[in-house]
Amino acid sequence: MSHAEITREMFEQSSWDERYGGDGHIWSGRPNAVLAREAAALTPGRAVDLGCGEGGDAIWLAERGWQVTAADFSGAGLARAAAHGAERGVADRVEWRQADLRTWRPEGEQWDLVTSHFLHLLDDGMLEATRQMADAVAPGGTLLVVGHHPDDAHTGLRWSMPGVLFAAEELAQAVDPDLFDVHTEARERRETRDGVEHVVTDAVLLARRR
Ligand SMILES: C[S@@+](CC[C@H](N)C(=O)[O-])C[C@H]1O[C@@H](n2cnc3c(N)ncnc32)[C@H](O)[C@@H]1O
Repeated sequence: MSHAEITREMFEQSSWDERYGGDGHIWSGRPNAVLAREAAALTPGRAVDLGCGEGGDAIWLAERGWQVTAADFSGAGLARAAAHGAERGVADRVEWRQADLRTWRPEGEQWDLVTSHFLHLLDDGMLEATRQMADAVAPGGTLLVVGHHPDDAHTGLRWSMPGVLFAAEELAQAVDPDLFDVHTEARERRETRDGVEHVVTDAVLLARRR
C-alpha cells in the first residue's frame, strides 16, 4: 500500500473502529469547549451531533435538557458512547445512529441545533456535509461546525493531506445567506499532547437560521 493509500485508509470506518476499540483509549467525558460556550445560551430543544465519536458532546447536551440524535459511522465509537450515556443516566434522551456522513442526507428531518466537532472528510467533503447539515436546521435554529484550521498543519498534530483541514469561511459557502446569519471565526485554544502544550486554532462556523 502506498503512503497516500494508508493515509486515505485512516478516514475509513475500520480505522476509527480500531481506534475506539483499542485498550489504550481514554474517554475525557467532557464536551468540546466551543459547544459548551455556544450552546449554553440556547434554549434546549432537539439537537443532532454529527461525528459524535464517544458521545461527550451528545451526553453533555442531554444532561442540559436537549433531546439528542447522535450519529457516527464507527460502531465501536457508538457502543462506547451508548455505554457512557447509560452510565450518566441519559440513555432515554439520546438516540445513537450509525451513518456515513459522506452520503448522509437529513431527508426532511430538522433539529434546533445541528452540531459537528472535528469531523474531517477527504477531498473537501465537509463542504457537501455542511450543505446537508444546514438543510437539517429548523427555522430559528443553530448550525455549529467546528474543525481543525489549516494553520494547525505546522503543529504536526493534524492530517497533512490537502482538502481535509478547513477554514470556516470555506464551509460558509455551503450556507445560504438568504436563510442564515453566518459568523465565521478562527479561535485559538491550548491543547496538550504527550505532556506538551500547543496553541491550536479551531475553525468555527456558527449560523442562525432566521
Ligand atoms: C476526531 S473524532 C471527533 C469526535 C467527537 N465529535 C469529538 O469532538 O470528540 C471524528 C469522528 O468522526 C467520525 N467520522 C469520520 N468520518 C466519518 C464519516 N464518513 N461518517 C461518519 N462519521 C465519521 C469518526 O468515527 C470519529 O468518531
